Formats: sequence, C-alpha cells, structure tokens
Amino acid sequence: VFAGMSKELLSTYKAIQDEFVILDPSSRYADLVTASTTAEYPIQRWFHFKEAFSVELLDKLLDDWSIDPGILETVIDPFCGSGTSLLAVQKVAKKRKLKKIRVIGIERNPFLQFVANTKASWPEADIESLEAAATHLLNGARKESPHRIPDLTTLKRKDIFDRKSLRRLLGFKSAISRLDPEIHDFMLLGYASAIEEVAAVRKDGRALRVVSKPNRPTVDTAVKQKWQAMIKDLKEAVELFEPILFEVRLGDGRKLNVEDTADLIFYSPPYLNNIDYTEVYKLELWLTGFVSSRTEFRDLRFKTFRSHPSVKFPDPVTKLDQEEYSIAKNAINQMVSALPDDSNRGWRENLFRGYFDDMCQSLSEQFRVLTGGGHVFCVVGNSVHGPTSDPTRRVPVASDLIIASIAKATGFEVAAIQVARNLTRRLAGNEYARESIIVLRKPWGTD
Ligand SMILES: C[S@@+](CC[C@H](N)C(=O)[O-])C[C@H]1O[C@@H](n2cnc3c(N)ncnc32)[C@H](O)[C@@H]1O
Repeated sequence: VFAGMSKELLSTYKAIQDEFVILDPSSRYADLVTASTTAEYPIQRWFHFKEAFSVELLDKLLDDWSIDPGILETVIDPFCGSGTSLLAVQKVAKKRKLKKIRVIGIERNPFLQFVANTKASWPEADIESLEAAATHLLNGARKESPHRIPDLTTLKRKDIFDRKSLRRLLGFKSAISRLDPEIHDFMLLGYASAIEEVAAVRKDGRALRVVSKPNRPTVDTAVKQKWQAMIKDLKEAVELFEPILFEVRLGDGRKLNVEDTADLIFYSPPYLNNIDYTEVYKLELWLTGFVSSRTEFRDLRFKTFRSHPSVKFPDPVTKLDQEEYSIAKNAINQMVSALPDDSNRGWRENLFRGYFDDMCQSLSEQFRVLTGGGHVFCVVGNSVHGPTSDPTRRVPVASDLIIASIAKATGFEVAAIQVARNLTRRLAGNEYARESIIVLRKPWGTD
C-alpha cells in the first residue's frame, strides 16, 4: 500500500538507512521497550505509566554494548516520565554492587515528575508510618466536608465519576495534604494510582476513553489496595534496588544545565504520535492538585515537546535549518510533500518540523554534556500520518532514521539502530513501522 504512494520518500529512507548498521528486530528487546512488564517489578508498579519502558532494558543494553557500569558516574534521562530509568540504574547498582553511580531524571509534567521522584525515593519510606497513615486516612477522611470540584470538565461528567466517589477522592486528597512531608508523597501516589480504577475511563492511545466499568471498586477499596501493595513492595525493594544518589528535576529535557555532565544518556523521548501527555494524564494532574487552573493546564501544554497538535506552537524551526542537517531536512520536506493537500496539511507540517527541531536541539544538548566515549541509548517508535480513510495517502515517518541522521550531523557516531520490534502496520507494507533503540557514541577527544 505504501510503496505506491511516495517512491521518493521511501528511496530517501532507504538511502539514509544504508548509512547505518541496522540490527534485526530482537525478541529479547520487544518486551523491554513497552510497559508490558511493569506489574512484575516492585516500586515500578506503583503507577502504571503506559508509555514506560522496562526496568530491565538498561541492564540488557549495557551487556550487549559491553559497557562496564562500574566506570559510570552520572546517567541522565532527559525525558524521564514515570522514572523507570532511575529504578533501572538502582537495579544495575544493586546487581553490580555500585554505590557511587548517580542518576538525574528530567520531566516536564509535574505529576509525572512527582511519580518518578516518589518511586526513586522508596529508601526513605518508613513502613510503620505508612501503615499508620493508611489507617488514619481510611478511618478519618470520611468526615471531610464537601470540597470544591476542580475546574476540569471531565470531573463534572456523571458518566465518569459519580458525585459520591468524586467527593470521596477529594476528601482523601485534602486529608493527605495535611500529612507530614515524609509520608505525604507516598500516600498521594497510592491515591493517584487509584484514580483510573474508580473512574469510568481507560487511557487509550492519545485520549481518555469513557468505558463502562460495572464492577469498579469503591474509592476506599481502591486506595486501600494501592497503599497495601506499596507497603508490601517496600519489603521487596531492598533486595532489588540500591539506594543511590538521584535527582528528579521539573524541567525541560531539551535544555540541560550548564554544569551538567553525563557518561550515559538513556531515554525515550515523546514519539511523533500525537500523544499529549498533559491530556492523557489530566485526571491525575488535577486530582492531585499539580494543576489547579485552566491557564496552568494550557501553559503546561505549551512547554511540552512538540510531538502533538493540541496547541499551536510558535516557531516551527529554529535549529534544523542549519546546513549540517540537510539530509534530515530533505527527508522531512519529502514527508510534508507526501501529505494530502487537505485542511490537515498545515498542522501536520508544523508537527513534523517542530518534532525534529526539538530532537535536534535535544541531541545538541546531549552531545554537549556527554563525556568523550560516552553512549546514548534513545528508544523511539516510528509512526504513520495522514487520513485513516485512505491508506494510500498515509505517510510513514521513520523517526529512528531521521533522529540517527540528525545525531550524526551533531557529531555523534551512530553505533547502530537496534530494531526492538516491528509494529503490526508493517504487514500493510510499511517496513519502517517499528520501534527502535538508537545507539550513539560521542567520539573521544570531542569534549
Ligand atoms: C516516552 S515518555 C518517557 C517514558 C519513560 N521512559 C518511562 O519509562 O516512564 C516521554 C516523556 O517526556 C515528557 N516530556 C514531554 N515534553 C518534555 C520536555 N520538554 N522536557 C522533559 N520531558 C518532557 C512527557 O511528559 C513524557 O513523560
């Protein structure tokens, strides 16, 4: 189906691909680039982040690329989401008895930054205090007086929340806000991970879908189970993870600090798939109080990576226009030309250009802070854009190839593109429908 539409674009992809070592899809990586193993790991399962990768991924990559973690001082994840990479480094540290390695995560969404920070902070949790707080909250929060419902339309929909459950949630939230700082975050995280269970919604790709959930638990049952599970995990965590120095910044992963240095950068940026994390995690953002006004909500969208069309971002391109990125830019121009000439063309064009411009800025920053000889592991998925009604006019976007090309122009050595798995759309003739791990190395002597 695809082969018929833009021969020019496909031959451009082929030419870029021929420049790189492409490692075949490996079943060993397929499960590690998705959230399918989240429930198996203590702490990691404190919040189900459906865009997460696996806690095991880092260990496997270090092995396959013969990187001795003993020589690593600082690992940075500029788009840390739910903080999987922080736990992954704690896990590697435990297995190889490392004490000095440290890890920095950066995340733009304040709710996700909180999730990542709370998970990585598990060594500070005092089990007895958490048990006492759970008992106190479950017995006491019921007496809370009615609370003002936050200004999010979804919260006012009776088919999603019945009034009683919503008031109960808000009651827990305000009781949690009065807890001691040492236990506050843990209790708030358990509460946050119960939200989706008690609402008639499911996170589905780029949206919240209203679904019927006839047997959903009561708010009390759901939060109680979450807190109990967290307490149980704390007992198992000591065997699995090493408490090491870490930091989770609320910030922009496209811009690292002047004083940052790293010897490994390990991350998965937002994919060019229209997912707006602000939207998908809006119930959690508002019900935990990290967002409390429409202006704040809107401002947050503008600060995110340009991977979605929820808002009209200014300045489509700032860096990608530079001469050295001409190969990538030419491919992007061809993607744009392949788009149907309809009313969606404008925003799709901005999306393509904005996305790769953001990747370009991020990669420059990564190059700047990485020490010579250091590696970057970047997990990314390719996508398809255009009208679903007409598959012959859909445009495959080979993000892995474009990103690798930008990285090469930035100064990185592209060690390989390790294909982790092919996506089902590949069956429709698009050989670029896949999720990959781009492996980069900063040459020695380029610091
Ligand atoms: C693919 S997810 C990362 C998932 C993560 N590896 C995990 O396992 O949880 C990409 C993340 O980038 C975040 N993000 C979007 N724009 C950002 C920005 N400008 N700076 C930092 N993080 C950003 C999103 O909120 C999302 O959490």
